[in-house]
Amino acid sequence: MNSTVKILLSSSGFSHFCFIFLFLFRNSTALVTDANEVKALNSIFQKWNTQPEPGAWNISGEPCSGTATDANASLDDHNPAIKCDCSLENSSTCHITHLKVFQLEITGEIPEELVALQFLIHLEINQNYFYGPLPAFIGNLSRLEFLRVSRNTLSGPLPKELGKLKQLTYLAIASNNFSGTLPPELGFLDKLEKIFIDSSGVRGEIPSTFANLRNMKIMWAYDCALTGKIPEFIGNWNKLTTLRFGGNSLEGPIPSSFSNLTLLEKLQITDLHNVSSSLDFIKNMKNLTYLSLRNALINGSIPSYIGKYKSLQTLDLSFNNLSGQIPSALFSIDPLTQLFLGNNSLSGGLPQQKGVKLQTIDFSYNYLSGSFPKWVTNDVTLNLVGNNFTFDSSNISDFYGLNCLQRYFPCNRNTPRYSHIAINSGGKKFRDYEADDRDIGETSFVVLNSEKWAISNVGFLFTEGGQAFNTLAQNSGTKVINSKTTPPDLYQTSRKSIGSLRYYGLGLENGPYNVSLFFAEIVYEDQDSRKWGSLGRRVFDIYIQGTRRWKDFDISKEAGGVRRAIRKSFNANVTENHLEIHLFWAGKGTCCIPGDGSYGPLISALSVTPGKLCDFFES
Ligand SMILES: *[C@@H]1O[C@H](CO)[C@@H](O)[C@H](O)[C@H]1NC(C)=O
Ligand SMILES: *[C@@H]1O[C@H](CO)[C@@H](O)[C@H](O)[C@H]1NC(C)=O
Ligand SMILES: *[C@@H]1O[C@H](CO)[C@@H](O)[C@H](O)[C@H]1NC(C)=O
Ligand SMILES: *[C@@H]1O[C@H](CO)[C@@H](O)[C@H](O)[C@H]1NC(C)=O
Ligand SMILES: *[C@@H]1O[C@H](CO)[C@@H](O)[C@H](O)[C@H]1NC(C)=O
Ligand SMILES: *[C@@H]1O[C@H](CO)[C@@H](O)[C@H](O)[C@H]1NC(C)=O
Ligand SMILES: *[C@@H]1O[C@H](CO)[C@@H](O)[C@H](O)[C@H]1NC(C)=O
Ligand SMILES: *[C@@H]1O[C@H](CO)[C@@H](O)[C@H](O)[C@H]1NC(C)=O
Ligand SMILES: *[C@@H]1O[C@H](CO)[C@@H](O)[C@H](O)[C@H]1NC(C)=O
Ligand SMILES: *[C@@H]1O[C@H](CO)[C@@H](O)[C@H](O)[C@H]1NC(C)=O
Ligand SMILES: *[C@@H]1O[C@H](CO)[C@@H](O)[C@H](O)[C@H]1NC(C)=O
Ligand SMILES: *[C@@H]1O[C@H](CO)[C@@H](O)[C@H](O)[C@H]1NC(C)=O
Repeated sequence: MNSTVKILLSSSGFSHFCFIFLFLFRNSTALVTDANEVKALNSIFQKWNTQPEPGAWNISGEPCSGTATDANASLDDHNPAIKCDCSLENSSTCHITHLKVFQLEITGEIPEELVALQFLIHLEINQNYFYGPLPAFIGNLSRLEFLRVSRNTLSGPLPKELGKLKQLTYLAIASNNFSGTLPPELGFLDKLEKIFIDSSGVRGEIPSTFANLRNMKIMWAYDCALTGKIPEFIGNWNKLTTLRFGGNSLEGPIPSSFSNLTLLEKLQITDLHNVSSSLDFIKNMKNLTYLSLRNALINGSIPSYIGKYKSLQTLDLSFNNLSGQIPSALFSIDPLTQLFLGNNSLSGGLPQQKGVKLQTIDFSYNYLSGSFPKWVTNDVTLNLVGNNFTFDSSNISDFYGLNCLQRYFPCNRNTPRYSHIAINSGGKKFRDYEADDRDIGETSFVVLNSEKWAISNVGFLFTEGGQAFNTLAQNSGTKVINSKTTPPDLYQTSRKSIGSLRYYGLGLENGPYNVSLFFAEIVYEDQDSRKWGSLGRRVFDIYIQGTRRWKDFDISKEAGGVRRAIRKSFNANVTENHLEIHLFWAGKGTCCIPGDGSYGPLISALSVTPGKLCDFFES
């Protein structure tokens, strides 16, 4: 017995009270859902083995009922959810206009019955485990305005029929397993305002037809293996507020036409090759809140007008060729001015720098030099490692050890004291593996008091304020499988980064070394679990002494699955008393499966021993 109280009105007009139930019957002119659509919908949900939630709609009776026809109910009130419109063709037939199944672990191909839902304007099936193609018949749903199939494992090429969806304003195909290039026909979708193709599997050049997409506001296209030059025509998309290009194989320079994009609020262009750009093109981007031009061959100096960008919260210019000094006017309110004004009447301490929004600044790995402006203090989240700053009595800094982490590694130079390093990344001291369990998220680097080794972490999330993520990870799943001689305990913890993670050996004896890196994927779910959460792909590069030794390293691919140990050993030469092991996220892999900031370098332990690599240990 259904315990829900139902109110039904009879067609003859009188109310009938029956036990504890009230019944309501539709009269003869009642609204009915298009019969073809009912049939299709029921068949689809049967295939998906999914039921509507109570109150959403009636799967065996009239789908256009309950919240489906309640104009005030949102699509978000239920999951799965449909919405209907009963005023489209004539006043007695309802049509299904919205369909959402979100994160319900539905698996299967996209069913052809969908075509019967001719009135769909909104289709959302993201975060499931749909496989097979995005079928050509999707192009028959000509009323679609919103299409989101992200975070599944759809494969094959994108159908050119997508170009028939002339009403489309929103297209999300991100985090799938597609192949091939972007169909030029997508350029016909001139109402398109938002497109998300990150980690979708598509590759190749951005079609020239995209020049028509003048209504574009948001484009996410990172981790796509896009090639060729960044198209000049994007500079004409003058409604653009967000652009994300990273982890592709795009070539610089950043076109000068980009200086037209004055409404941009979030701009991320990273991992460019071949041709340098200066920062001139950002001159008029006064609305910027997030700017990341990391690893993008930016040269020249940092313009001080950035200090006038009142909304800017995150500024990441790391891994470039910037030179010159840090501008003293980068902060729009110079703390010194406040100090000065404060002299007269203020009591109870100095005013805080509250007017300033710029929260995170990353200038690491450039060629910046000279001394620091007055605003450079511990109060600002700021990363300055890997530059060429002056450290002397004229430039006393708040940052212990920063002097050691400059391009010329001055600490313990010519007075080497060490020849072995062993570190249990992210964990406590274990046998002769030293502890490395301090969260360095905020401080971004740590030099041990012995100045023997150091870590630096760089990386902010693509969000307002550029949230830094915890750099420690613990295995909460099953124990790591480890067939080699390393103790499994080493793999229960890891250090992780959403950008770049470096270990430095300082004051090492010069000579040949064997560097062993121990990895196990302890963050992702098992890949065969048929859940969208298992579709994460972690990809980073391994550099030793500045030379890339492994491009696109994928721990679980190398180890044959998640929670399996893998050791990689490399020869390295120390010639200037320092060693640098660098795990670098070059924008590849999925970003946010299973959660935000899941991606990037991850390492369980490392050991550095003098002498040549013993092949016996190679994994
Ligand atoms: C759905 O509708 C059918 C036919 O109108 C009715 O018999 C059934 O009780 C309804 N089911 C629910 C759960 O409301
Ligand atoms: C929707 O909500 C508004 C304001 O609460 C109300 O006036 C209106 O009647 C509601 N419409 C429907 C169809 O329930
Ligand atoms: C309303 O439209 C439906 C579907 O097109 C059709 O089957 C039905 O006969 C129409 N009803 C009226 C009253 O025109
Ligand atoms: C889609 O439309 C095309 C052209 O109108 C038609 O040939 C095809 O049969 C349709 N596909 C489906 C699955 O209805
Ligand atoms: C992705 O597609 C390739 C073939 O293009 C296939 O080998 C691979 O197994 C697919 N991956 C997933 C997770 O389905
Ligand atoms: C955009 O930039 C290009 C190249 O810098 C320029 O020729 C063009 O006139 C600009 N368009 C607008 C609308 O400002
Ligand atoms: C680099 O850019 C130059 C100048 O635009 C071009 O001639 C050359 O082909 C590019 N090289 C590569 C490897 O892409
Ligand atoms: C963006 O810039 C425009 C024009 O310069 C301005 O009117 C608008 O308020 C700005 N928006 C934000 C969010 O700052
Ligand atoms: C930046 O790089 C470009 C291309 O290599 C070069 O022409 C230009 O002189 C460089 N600018 C600076 C300031 O080094
Ligand atoms: C970056 O600057 C360094 C040092 O000045 C120089 O060796 C290197 O060639 C530059 N790289 C590019 C791409 O301009
Ligand atoms: C660092 O700066 C010094 C001068 O202060 C200069 O001699 C040296 O070449 C610079 N090193 C690098 C790597 O740019
Ligand atoms: C280390 O130096 C030796 C001798 O100069 C050289 O043969 C070897 O290739 C170097 N190894 C690396 C990894 O650079």
